[in-house]
Amino acid sequence: MGDLPFVFMISSPQIAPTRFDNHITRTLGSLRGHFLDENAYARMLAKGDVLVYEVYEVHRPEVPGELQVGMSIVHPGKVGSEFFMTKGHFHQVLDTGELYYCLRGEGFMVMQTPEGEVAVEALAPGRVLYIPPRWAHRSVCTSRQEALATFFVYPGHAGHDYGTIEQDGFPKLVMEGAGGIEIIDNPRWRKDR
Ligand code: F6R
Ligand code: ZN
Repeated sequence: MGDLPFVFMISSPQIAPTRFDNHITRTLGSLRGHFLDENAYARMLAKGDVLVYEVYEVHRPEVPGELQVGMSIVHPGKVGSEFFMTKGHFHQVLDTGELYYCLRGEGFMVMQTPEGEVAVEALAPGRVLYIPPRWAHRSVCTSRQEALATFFVYPGHAGHDYGTIEQDGFPKLVMEGAGGIEIIDNPRWRKDR
């Protein structure tokens, strides 16, 4: 017999889902090399290893047919003028997509294909983002007070490839500019190859 269906809440007053198996926290110190301004990164880290984002996962078997689900929460903040964000990744099984549903906060999803195509989509409560197979993705929080909270669903066997993004970065960065939020070309994109 298979598993029984189950229900959990993602709309409860607290930000965490009511069911999860794993709670991952990523602090500034674990994001070395991801932000453009390395001096600002070092200065900030010297003051404290703040929480940048967290993920609540419901663990399902890593096989086709299953779905991995959970919540991703990116806290407000900046390193220099670059907004807090996730590391970002390709799925190890490249031909797997992902669905994100934004619950709280505001921000962007920055995406790229292995061929270097780029897409940036705004995230705000109620927006559903469909990420087709092959697109790497990183969420960025641009709200000042509130965290960017999203619910995600992806195929059970997708897995994660972080190394490609660690080396190449994303083609676009989300920054605080003189006139507000700016999406700029990443001067370091694929420079360390
Ligand atoms: C899973 C997925 C999200 C992210 C989460 C944290 O495939 O896209 O659950 O894992 O937003 O970001 P990363 O994994 O890039 O540290
Ligand atoms: Zn993913």
